Formats: sequence, C-alpha cells, structure tokens
Amino acid sequence: PNEQDIYEEHVLDHYEDPYHRGELATATHGDEGKNPLCGDVIQVMLRLGADGKIEEAWFDGEGCVISQASASMLIEAIEGKTVEEAKEFTANQMLELFGPQLTPNRQKCCLLSWRVLQSALHAPLDESADDDDAGPHFG
Ligand code: FES
Ligand code: FES
Repeated sequence: PNEQDIYEEHVLDHYEDPYHRGELATATHGDEGKNPLCGDVIQVMLRLGADGKIEEAWFDGEGCVISQASASMLIEAIEGKTVEEAKEFTANQMLELFGPQLTPNRQKCCLLSWRVLQSALHAPLDESADDDDAGPHFG
C-alpha cells in the first residue's frame, strides 16, 4: 500500500491525542511486550471488575505511529467490555479497527498492543508487592 494511506486522519488523531495513555495505578492486570523487529514497546494496564468487565484500560509505550495509534484504538474499543469479549477480539478485527491496509511487517506493529492485551488479560499483578516497589509489575 501507499505509505501515505497509512496515515489517515483518525490514525494521526490517535497518535497525537491518545486515549488513556499513561499509568493506571489501580491496575489489577497488566503486561508488556516488544516488537523484536524494531524494539517498539507497549504496556497494557487493566482494572478488571468482579463482574468480569474491564472497568478501566490504559496503555503506555514507545514506538511508531502504527504501534501507538493502534494501541490507543484498541484500549478505547475494549474498555467497558467483558474479559470474554476482549479475549474473543481477533487479530483480524484489530486490523479492521486500525483501518488502512498494512504490509505484513506493519501488521506486526498494529498487532503489538493486541498481543499484549491478550497476555495482560491472563496476567494478574502481584498485590502483595513491597511498598517501596508500588505500582504495576511488568514481567
Ligand atoms: Fe516500524 Fe513497524 S516495524 S513501522
Ligand atoms: Fe515497530 Fe512500530 S516500528 S512496532
């Protein structure tokens, strides 16, 4: 695809003004992942409720427009959904959510946050962590 097509307005909007980018101090689940091709990193932090819903979702990270904008789109899309719904959200649905057609390598950028979300859903954070080591634990 034409490089320009990737940077549609809604992609740039999410990159420049991301949804819930930062720390979620009350996270119950979280994980981080890296795209080995380029080193881009994404962290996903979730607060899962007793009712099986994702009450709050945040991300942080560093990397290209595709990896960061797609993370923002995903976090916005899954917040308020149930854990089951989030687990059923497929890679193809992630690519559709992003919008512009991507080459295989760039699909990996777009799927980075999706991969991290899927593992974060299964990764409870240690609540008994030391006080001087407060905050979400990754890895
Ligand atoms: Fe850099 Fe994705 S590997 S744009
Ligand atoms: Fe690699 Fe974007 S340049 S995830």
